[in-house]
Amino acid sequence: MATLDGRVAIVTGAGQGLGAAEAEALAAAGARMVLNDLPGPALDAVVERIRTAGGTAVAVPGDVADMATGEALVKAAVDGFGGLDVLVNNAGVLRDRMIFSMSEQEWDTVVRVHLRGHFVTTRFATAWWRDRSKDEGGPVYARIVNTASEAFLLGSAGQANYAAAKGGIVSLTLATARGCARHGVRVNAICPRARTGMTGDLMGAPPSGPDPMAPDRVAPLVVHLAGPSGARITGEVFVVHGDVVALLGPPTVRAVFRAATGTWTAPELDAALGTVFTADPPRPGFVCEETLPLAATTFGEPS
Ligand SMILES: NC(=O)c1ccc[n+]([C@@H]2O[C@H](COP(=O)([O-])OP(=O)(O)OC[C@H]3O[C@@H](n4cnc5c(N)ncnc54)[C@H](O)[C@@H]3O)[C@@H](O)[C@H]2O)c1
Repeated sequence: MATLDGRVAIVTGAGQGLGAAEAEALAAAGARMVLNDLPGPALDAVVERIRTAGGTAVAVPGDVADMATGEALVKAAVDGFGGLDVLVNNAGVLRDRMIFSMSEQEWDTVVRVHLRGHFVTTRFATAWWRDRSKDEGGPVYARIVNTASEAFLLGSAGQANYAAAKGGIVSLTLATARGCARHGVRVNAICPRARTGMTGDLMGAPPSGPDPMAPDRVAPLVVHLAGPSGARITGEVFVVHGDVVALLGPPTVRAVFRAATGTWTAPELDAALGTVFTADPPRPGFVCEETLPLAATTFGEPS
């Protein structure tokens, strides 16, 4: 029996790239698939590929940031397949620009598709799982895999909208993991890298032979988190690409300063913090670059 036999999974942004690879891998593991993307032939082609390979899939096209799309996705899973077990939030867009030149629309589009898009589906899926958990008197099988990016660790300079949305997705992941734990919901985030429509320009053409940055290198971790093996994993963030799966640790407290009299004065702050921040010009401190060397097979910064 495949690990996801009898399970029902939603994948957003499944028309190409990572979403398509993840949908095909989940279907190959036995899940019946509800696939979303913007309306168009790409989504139908992925549904067709899954069916040709012997799997089960339906398309629910629509803008993932519309409440109606989120509701329709969960309804398609429940009415069409009798339930919902797995939600993979993956849909995304880029509108790269330096912050001082960014238009309102570039900001809104990226935050809307990524962060609101994750909220919309999560809202309807968790409501359904909570009701089932109450009916059954205990935790139910429920998995969410969210898609963040190393951009949130780095604060990618030309991607303020994207980095902010991805940071928000990590916080959403933690809040959902905490808020829905007792109903059985397991929620994790991945920071993937793969050669796709989104990154093809950055990464260039694939090498001849197997591509180490192919989207299907990311899919096995998504299947793992979606499967029985994901039962004890929640509120975690992974970097995943090629042959790498890296588990991130949480931010740490670097230093603690206490006011001698209970209230800080300007001279006291100067004395306490002045010894720590000595570099000129300063570099952003709350940055994680440790994941960069893991991606020796890619070029440039991740998107
Ligand atoms: N490829 C990478 O290296 C990389 C790195 C970090 C994070 N990511 C993230 O992985 C996810 C998938 O990226 P990808 O590289 O496969 O990109 P992609 O551009 O190949 O695929 C994204 C898909 O999302 C769909 N989409 C866009 N807006 C939508 C909307 N409003 N509603 C529904 N679907 C919508 C697109 O049509 C497309 O099919 C994104 O969230 C992206 O930010 C990718």
